Amino acid sequence: METAYFNGNFLPKDEIKISPDDRGFLFADGIYEVVRWYEGFFYDMNSHITRLKRSLRELRINWPDADSFPTFANDLLKLNKLENRPAMVYLQVTRGAARRSHSFPPPEVRPTSYAYAWAFIPDIQLKETGIKVMLKEDIRWSRCDIKSVALLPNTLSFQEACENGLKECIFVRNGLITEGSHSNIFFVIDGTLFTHPESNHVLSGITRKNILRIAQESGIRIREEAVQENRIRFVREAFITNTSAEVTPVTELGGNTIGEGVPGPVTRLIRDKFESEIKAFKG
Ligand code: PDD
Repeated sequence: METAYFNGNFLPKDEIKISPDDRGFLFADGIYEVVRWYEGFFYDMNSHITRLKRSLRELRINWPDADSFPTFANDLLKLNKLENRPAMVYLQVTRGAARRSHSFPPPEVRPTSYAYAWAFIPDIQLKETGIKVMLKEDIRWSRCDIKSVALLPNTLSFQEACENGLKECIFVRNGLITEGSHSNIFFVIDGTLFTHPESNHVLSGITRKNILRIAQESGIRIREEAVQENRIRFVREAFITNTSAEVTPVTELGGNTIGEGVPGPVTRLIRDKFESEIKAFKG
């Protein structure tokens, strides 16, 4: 029986009851986080908590329990016997349940919080071979910096990628490549590493931040600058990053082969350094 966290309690998952008036259900009025458990530690939990608090602040959801995320996430792993396995924990917080109205409910309405953990089997193969991804106009809103559960443009776009046998959908806004449906994207042009700067058009990925640090420590030239779609032909390497895919090379983008069609040297260096760091943390 799977045990989940719900409003401060641990319950069998199928006994959890969420009101049909929950604003998460009615308005997608909520935020989420996904953290990765590497059999002994959560990867950069502090940054996830900082981003969680920022998302809550931006939506003006007053949830006082953000700092207890590591504690209840750990409890979830124990209760589900996942401590010694690679796992993920998902947390969602909504503005709570109240009669439907576009204005916020009164302050006594408490946010709804829900979290669960699951065993995660990473796809090692894709990190070796790389993936093919599609390109599509960015149909999302202008606050992609908030990790909101309103993900319909992301899910529709990712589904389109899946139906075309592709592994991610990368968005283009006003001719500039922003990010993927659930990942950030990096490019190597003339030996320089490019990624979209932090802005309201991308999520500030925790993996993105750590990859920039690793690249800097490795002496790689970095430019946090968006790449224009019409410069794809100059891209020698590309890779996506997120909590689950870590560093995954991209070998084809919108029908264009990237470089030699295999993961390039900068991508491999960064991927290997990221993996070595994880191994070192494991001790
Ligand atoms: N998604 N950009 C978007 C739009 C994302 O949804 C994600 C993560 C990222 C990468 O962020 P991070 O490195 O912190 O995982 C970038 C998660 C994994 C998801 O929705 O499941």
